[in-house]
Amino acid sequence: MIQELFSWLTTRCAPQARQFGYLYEAIAMRARAKRCAAAWQSHLISSQQFISDCILKSEPGGVALVFGSGLGLDMPKAQLLKHFDEVWLVDMVHLRETRHAWQDEKVKFIEYDVTNTLSSIARGELAMSQPYRWLDDKHIRFVLSANIIGQLPVQPLSWLAKHYPNIEDEVLDAWSESLLTAHMTYLQAFISQGAHVCLIADLEWHYAENNQVRTVIDAWRGLAHPTPHARWGWRIAPRGELRTNNTQTNWVGAWCFAD
Ligand SMILES: C[S@@+](CC[C@H](N)C(=O)[O-])C[C@H]1O[C@@H](n2cnc3c(N)ncnc32)[C@H](O)[C@@H]1O
Repeated sequence: MIQELFSWLTTRCAPQARQFGYLYEAIAMRARAKRCAAAWQSHLISSQQFISDCILKSEPGGVALVFGSGLGLDMPKAQLLKHFDEVWLVDMVHLRETRHAWQDEKVKFIEYDVTNTLSSIARGELAMSQPYRWLDDKHIRFVLSANIIGQLPVQPLSWLAKHYPNIEDEVLDAWSESLLTAHMTYLQAFISQGAHVCLIADLEWHYAENNQVRTVIDAWRGLAHPTPHARWGWRIAPRGELRTNNTQTNWVGAWCFAD
């Protein structure tokens, strides 16, 4: 508790990372990653392995751009640093431990909203905005979207539910879907300019009680997506994390794209 409070008070981040709960979530995720280390291990290994294989298909040198670097757990650090001249880690927030673990002269930490929409959300406006930052940078050889796409609407939606509770569900659903579409269009634009793109994304969230799956939520919110090149289960909440006898498993997909 004291460590959490200390992190909350002392982490350097943009005001929006506190306002929308990204800092809170990062601190909670760090604690959960420690508690659930054994249950998460196979997911982290599968993810790192898939990304490593995808990196090897791209030309060495240049810049690797990572969206959703977060705690930096599911990415192959050594391979990224070996293959590229620079690694740019982009997230709303990087905790001190992550900065420490990834400290290297090749690594740049960038706190940035990859949807480009949070400023308008803070005014209660559900504007749509197509991200374009870095698209003109020819040094970018590799883009990794590291399990961020399904999370893009999550914090804004819970903030809107508290501060603008009267927005209709249909409007929120359409806006959430457009966030995912914009992210895919953004990744496609990097592919079109010659970068390799690796996408790791939740497919479905399965909630079970006594080993019986009771609820399945589509992390893509009904949006069509290409068939994954690999998939695996991530026991994100083993027994004991939620209510007794309840568990959560995320089905994760992985794609390696080049033009
Ligand atoms: C499931 S975590 C990714 C896990 C991460 N790759 C790791 O190994 O810890 C999703 C990440 O997306 C980030 N995120 C969500 N929405 C974002 C946004 N609009 N801009 C930047 N980062 C965002 C969160 O802060 C979080 O770190």
